[in-house]
Amino acid sequence: MSKKDFLSKLYLNTLEKGQVSWQSPSNIALVKYWGKYGEQLPKNTSISFTLSNCHTKTTLFYEPKTTEDYEFEVYLDGKREEGFEPKILKFFDRIEKFIRFLKDYRFRLETTNSFPHSSGIASSASGMSALALCLMEMELRLRSATFENELTKEFFNQKASFLARLGSGSACRSIEGPLIVWGELPEIPNSSNLYGTKYPFEVHPNFENYQDTILLVDKGEKQVSSTVGHNLMHEHPFAEERFAQANANMKKLIPVLKEGNLDAFIKIVESEALSLHAMMMTSMPYFILMKPNTLEIINRIWSFRKETGSKVCFTLDAGANVHVLYPESEKAQVYDFIKKELVAYCQNSQYICDQIGKGAKKL
Ligand code: DP6
Repeated sequence: MSKKDFLSKLYLNTLEKGQVSWQSPSNIALVKYWGKYGEQLPKNTSISFTLSNCHTKTTLFYEPKTTEDYEFEVYLDGKREEGFEPKILKFFDRIEKFIRFLKDYRFRLETTNSFPHSSGIASSASGMSALALCLMEMELRLRSATFENELTKEFFNQKASFLARLGSGSACRSIEGPLIVWGELPEIPNSSNLYGTKYPFEVHPNFENYQDTILLVDKGEKQVSSTVGHNLMHEHPFAEERFAQANANMKKLIPVLKEGNLDAFIKIVESEALSLHAMMMTSMPYFILMKPNTLEIINRIWSFRKETGSKVCFTLDAGANVHVLYPESEKAQVYDFIKKELVAYCQNSQYICDQIGKGAKKL
């Protein structure tokens, strides 16, 4: 598939006033995306677990109009959020040639997150993918209204992922589950820079219902946004090495996922998390998103693993929160450890229990 395949056809009809709703999850990368080029294209391949409980629900109300510009309002938990509107406007501008009806309707976008707004959990992956899916649902309605060629489920998901990527890179990995790859790699058939695809190889039952408990270490606004961080990879002295490392880790993960080798899995996943933060610390300007409690938690996970032989491990995204990953078979034991030893390092003792999920749902 190429960019051209996603261009909009002319719509012969318009829709009456109506609404569409989708729920879309967050995701957590095992091999990290950090560095992009062109129009939201990744410098390396990444792979993520799709989550389940952390999600965004979006309803898009639409009404035909004849004026020439975009018209929309964004509401979060029922309250107008003008602060989000410039980001949506930029998104609409980027996707206009792929979704040609954007100026034909007045939109009201109502969105809620299952996780607390200021939890430090990025809502861009779940939020942008939910909006992309709502727009695809409208496209589907428009096409059937004009008896145009029907959309296959596969194309629907691909284009939703393609659009979500233009809103936020990691959002393209939130349409489906449980394991999604983004970024072309010859070893992974059908992988693409343009959209996420389902991981195509065998996955060992060890990874079924894999658990992710998200420890909320710092709920404040990030000092450096992901977009700024990605841009700092352009002049970064270790950039090329990092992109090669990520692709090498992706390849190493293939037999690990197949054989269910949890020790090797831990090494790759933790190394990826620390390499991501090492890139931040060695950017110019440099920055640190981890907090003292992030390091405390990491050290306690390492001690616990050493003492008990547990296969619990951690990963990080672009923030101070810690994702604690572990097999379902260790659920009781690790949960007990989290409550006894790790919750003390969370802001207001807050954490979110999640697990691998299957992807977005139409509501
Ligand atoms: C550290 O997808 O938030 O979570 O494309 O600029 O919106 P933009 O960036 P974003 O970057 C997320 C990076 C990461 C790693 C990952 O999810 O792979």
